[in-house]
Amino acid sequence: MVEDAVGARGDGASRQAIEHHYDIGRDFYRLWLDSRMVYSCALWPDELDEDLEAAQLAKLAWHATAAQAAGQQRVLDIGCGWGALVRYLVEEHGVGHVTGLTLSSDQAVSLPPSEHWDIRLEDWRDHVPVGGYDAVTSIGAFEHFSRPELSRAQRRAVYRSFFDRCAGWLAPGKRLSLQTIAWEDFDPDHGSVAPFISQEIFPESTLPQLSDIVEASEARFRLVGLRSDGDQYSQTLRLWQGRLEAQAQSACELVGRANYRRYLRYLRVSRAMFDRRVCTLYRLAFERRP
Ligand SMILES: C[S@@+](CC[C@H](N)C(=O)[O-])C[C@H]1O[C@@H](n2cnc3c(N)ncnc32)[C@H](O)[C@@H]1O
Repeated sequence: MVEDAVGARGDGASRQAIEHHYDIGRDFYRLWLDSRMVYSCALWPDELDEDLEAAQLAKLAWHATAAQAAGQQRVLDIGCGWGALVRYLVEEHGVGHVTGLTLSSDQAVSLPPSEHWDIRLEDWRDHVPVGGYDAVTSIGAFEHFSRPELSRAQRRAVYRSFFDRCAGWLAPGKRLSLQTIAWEDFDPDHGSVAPFISQEIFPESTLPQLSDIVEASEARFRLVGLRSDGDQYSQTLRLWQGRLEAQAQSACELVGRANYRRYLRYLRVSRAMFDRRVCTLYRLAFERRP
């Protein structure tokens, strides 16, 4: 058990750390995200272009397909943000009910009430569903599941417990789709990179390496799809930055000039990390083994 290895709740970002980033307010994020408020790397199936709206929709579609979620009765979205995928699965793919988990209290109340979804302010480690799920999705949350001070063995133990839990909620043959940033040409055991990001932007969070994901998942899941899309995150960040700069005045009024500049710096530094291949973006489809 991870708790034995590192102590209860010392294994991933706390709710306080998550709210430090996400609860700056949805009105601020609305200024520079797409209309669905998707806050993760978009997907351009062909050439990169300037159309963030279409690329975010294509990303949601990729995950719906990867998780084989269309027409299913019960789907779980771990790290649901402001609910874009939850809503999309119900409204565009006929999913009967989606449970969304988030650690941000602002996000937890962002969708209107519906019999088709249940957005819970709950850590995946605490989630105890009434029954199983037909599919599980998780986009851009895995980056928060382990902390920088953990050893490689401890990080892998956290990731293994995530895959074990997902496997416990899915019948054999059912799918999990996952999207996460990962270290590429950088070994987290050999120092730190961009302390500004780990201290001021995403506290208590570190990234996996691809080998961590493979090692942690392979006892329970077959890896049936993998895309490496670092260039696409660089493009997403470039578009977000341009949109935020275009809204400078409104952004400063909402969150103050210091926060506006901090976010611009975060978008610039993150883009440089993708461009220099310090990190990349993976989209993975898993199938529960028998
Ligand atoms: C970058 S946002 C991505 C949101 C959404 N999936 C999207 O693509 O727009 C990360 C999300 O992960 C959630 N999260 C982080 N750690 C979590 C945990 N331990 N349990 C549940 N949700 C978590 C955050 O609250 C946030 O909603």
